[in-house]
Amino acid sequence: ESRVCTVRVPINIALVKYWGKRDQTQNIPLNDSLSLTINSLHARTTLRVNYEIGTDSVKINGKSQTVTGSRYQRVFEEVRRWERKRKAGEVAEHPVSIQFEITSETNFPVSAGLASSAAGFAAIAECLQKIFGFTDSQKSQLARLGSGSAIRSIFGGLVRWRRGTQPNYEDSIAESFPSTHWPSLRALILVVDEGRKEYSSTDGMQRTVETSTLLERRIECCDVNIDKICAAFSNRDFSAMADMIMRDSNNFHAVCMDTSPPLMYLNDVSRTIIRLVHVYNEKNGSTVIAYTFDAGPNATLYLEEDTVQDFLDFATKQLRFAESAQTEVEEILGHKLDESVNNGALAQILQVIYSQVGGGPQLLSLH
Ligand code: DP6
Repeated sequence: ESRVCTVRVPINIALVKYWGKRDQTQNIPLNDSLSLTINSLHARTTLRVNYEIGTDSVKINGKSQTVTGSRYQRVFEEVRRWERKRKAGEVAEHPVSIQFEITSETNFPVSAGLASSAAGFAAIAECLQKIFGFTDSQKSQLARLGSGSAIRSIFGGLVRWRRGTQPNYEDSIAESFPSTHWPSLRALILVVDEGRKEYSSTDGMQRTVETSTLLERRIECCDVNIDKICAAFSNRDFSAMADMIMRDSNNFHAVCMDTSPPLMYLNDVSRTIIRLVHVYNEKNGSTVIAYTFDAGPNATLYLEEDTVQDFLDFATKQLRFAESAQTEVEEILGHKLDESVNNGALAQILQVIYSQVGGGPQLLSLH
């Protein structure tokens, strides 16, 4: 007997970042965070559950992953524990005969540092809920056990992860912001480095918790900033929202710099993009574009659809788009890039991803 579920789940990029845990094994955050899903970057994941004793397996983009001692194992063990409890008559120590097989494909390189684990673990949690009939709160817990930020990909749109106050952590869950969609909102991701990041988020944030004195102040501000962004979102007040997004990104990287030794995730190209966005907004007379950076140098820009062409025209005069990125830019612009124009000396953009925002998980099949 076996069950199989396939889902597609988009990544999310935080507008107010999660950074720092009060429980490292359960991934319980010190602060609330807020994110938007990025429709065109997703994981397509199939989970097969066999009701027999066997070895669990996980394959990502064709590559087998180590399961023993991994985050996958944490998730599998939690499910087995719940199932043991549910089957009341059984002895607690009795092994539950469940074997998990996961295959997952992302439509973007995992190495690009684009929150692939968020989509992947949210997809696994989604499949587990479908197969075992878990509650939304249980689904949240499973996604979170895999990777904290994954909890925000189990819903579409603007999603808040509440840090929770209960000792059992059951209220450290995601909730989607009850507001209608903002259809003209877009994300433009500028990939400036495809290498693996120097410090993983997990290790980096722990070092911040241990050494930064600014972190405490950051944590105090997160709730207020989330409320401001949500209010701006409801009012379709792009510039108020953008201002807070950029402030949070800069505050987060300030905290990273306040870590000892410092976590330097941004590079020269990232900083050039930051300057460029501020120059563009200034030239415009209002804030029409926002940047945000996770634990790496790649920029995610949020903007409305009617800003995209003009901003890219402006950006191609200042930045240099590698051959690999030119086709994407030309497709968005609807015309060829002028070689005499695309010659910004300093900043090299390797890949451009243009996406709608706000989509959620999709069930593709279940049997
Ligand atoms: C900078 O979710 O990757 O992207 O819970 O240890 O797996 P773990 O960390 P992870 O951290 C994400 C950090 C961030 C900010 C964010 O997405 O909120």
